[in-house]
Amino acid sequence: LPRFVLIGQTASASGSFSIEDLPSSSGRLDVLLRSLRAALLVSHGLRRDVIVYLLLRGGEQAPRVLRVDGASAKFLRPDERSLAILVKKTLNAAPETLDARFTLLRPGLSICRGDLDEVLADAGNAPRYLLDERGDDVRSVPDVSDDGIFFIGDHAGFDPETLSRLRASTSRSLSVGPVSLHSDDVVTLLVNELDRRSPPAP
Ligand SMILES: C[S@@+](CC[C@H](N)C(=O)[O-])C[C@H]1O[C@@H](n2cnc3c(N)ncnc32)[C@H](O)[C@@H]1O
Repeated sequence: LPRFVLIGQTASASGSFSIEDLPSSSGRLDVLLRSLRAALLVSHGLRRDVIVYLLLRGGEQAPRVLRVDGASAKFLRPDERSLAILVKKTLNAAPETLDARFTLLRPGLSICRGDLDEVLADAGNAPRYLLDERGDDVRSVPDVSDDGIFFIGDHAGFDPETLSRLRASTSRSLSVGPVSLHSDDVVTLLVNELDRRSPPAP
């Protein structure tokens, strides 16, 4: 069960952004939504075995984590606007009393007050990988775990504190190529690599 952790340094933790002006009003939540799509959505369906965590570190309600579980998620559409509307409604529906436990708000969509600690506690002890263009070429790492937890930065990468925490707690850094790419492209390439190693049964 691969898990993707998308760290939004400024991404809005409240639903107070404008759908019409997503990039500037949401602290670049759009970057995370594109990565969510790349991790979870395939042609005509959802990857049922994937969980995505969006770390929302921007705005009034921060920090919050939105967890999207492919096993039970419904109504996820591939276009960014629909995903933004779904996330906005979910964030708006979060109760004032939200605590560090994930609360299910819609099928497959849960939210908690928290940050990396809550994600690490929820995701368990599977091998952890930091995605970084300076890391080991994923093609030269034969034993990348299918159950891995993969950490990916946003448009601004990782802040120094997060980076040093992740370096200390991840098994290794993986690169999907020598060029620094957009987060969603990184997810696409990584997922493709995993797909090729364990193709779905025909
Ligand atoms: C747009 S990049 C970040 C760019 C940022 N200016 C920086 O220098 O870190 C977004 C994220 O994608 C991942 N990433 C980008 N290129 C990669 C590559 N070639 N291999 C693995 N991960 C990559 C990293 O996790 C990075 O934080």
